[in-house]
Amino acid sequence: MDPTLTTRELTADLWPDLEVLFGGNGACGGCWCMFWRQERGEDWSETKGAVNRRRFRALVEGGRAHGVLAYVDGVPVGWAAFDRRRELAKLDRAPTLACDDADRVWSLPCFFVKAGYRRRGVASALIAAAVAAVRRRRGTVIEAYPVRPGNFGKSIPAAFAWTGTIPMFEAAGFQPVGERGRGKQRMRLAEKAPGGAGRRKQDSAPA
Ligand SMILES: CC(C)(COP(=O)(O)OP(=O)(O)OC[C@H]1O[C@@H](n2cnc3c(N)ncnc32)[C@H](O)[C@@H]1OP(=O)(O)O)[C@@H](O)C(=O)NCCC(=O)NCCS
Repeated sequence: MDPTLTTRELTADLWPDLEVLFGGNGACGGCWCMFWRQERGEDWSETKGAVNRRRFRALVEGGRAHGVLAYVDGVPVGWAAFDRRRELAKLDRAPTLACDDADRVWSLPCFFVKAGYRRRGVASALIAAAVAAVRRRRGTVIEAYPVRPGNFGKSIPAAFAWTGTIPMFEAAGFQPVGERGRGKQRMRLAEKAPGGAGRRKQDSAPA
């Protein structure tokens, strides 16, 4: 773990850092962390890029999108989103990720770690920070959707692992629920995290 790695919860004034981190591709493919927020009937080819960027910026500046940023030596190097599952319309209606208590659930649906900073524990630190941020909001049910290695073998191409990996979440105390043979795995953190996730150095954040 890099001793200069720190995390901060997203606030509106950190939008410029997020913009620098996401770069011209909006993290990947013009997503701007809007994939899971798509409403039914929306055409992704029309929203990816500029529309997603504008929508996400409005959410961030209005305090309606949540997440944590990671920094190394003050440079933004990683992002993890967290939000109430109900706010993530596409995720919430995905039949393969269905659950029967969605109103209680907080989701950790997406990660982006800058190339050159991967496999150094950045995403793991982001999970701890996101879990701590949800706990500060008195969220009790925390869910994630990591990829199964499937055909990839041991190393998953980074772009395919944007919902995280199973070992990342296992290390943070998450356990599989409704195990699926392929595709994204639904995992949950025990309501009282053993050992208390969120032990890494991080700034305090708005409630
Ligand atoms: C997937 C991703 C978030 C992982 O971040 P990271 O900071 O490298 O993850 P960590 O270092 O915390 O990894 C923790 C564990 O997860 C597993 N892991 C991480 N990346 C992996 C990969 N590509 N393949 C297989 N396992 C992986 C490993 O078990 C790792 O532990 P180890 O390094 O000790 O073996 C990162 O590769 C990424 O951001 N990829 C791009 C995703 C993207 O495009 N997002 C934008 C979507 S619009």
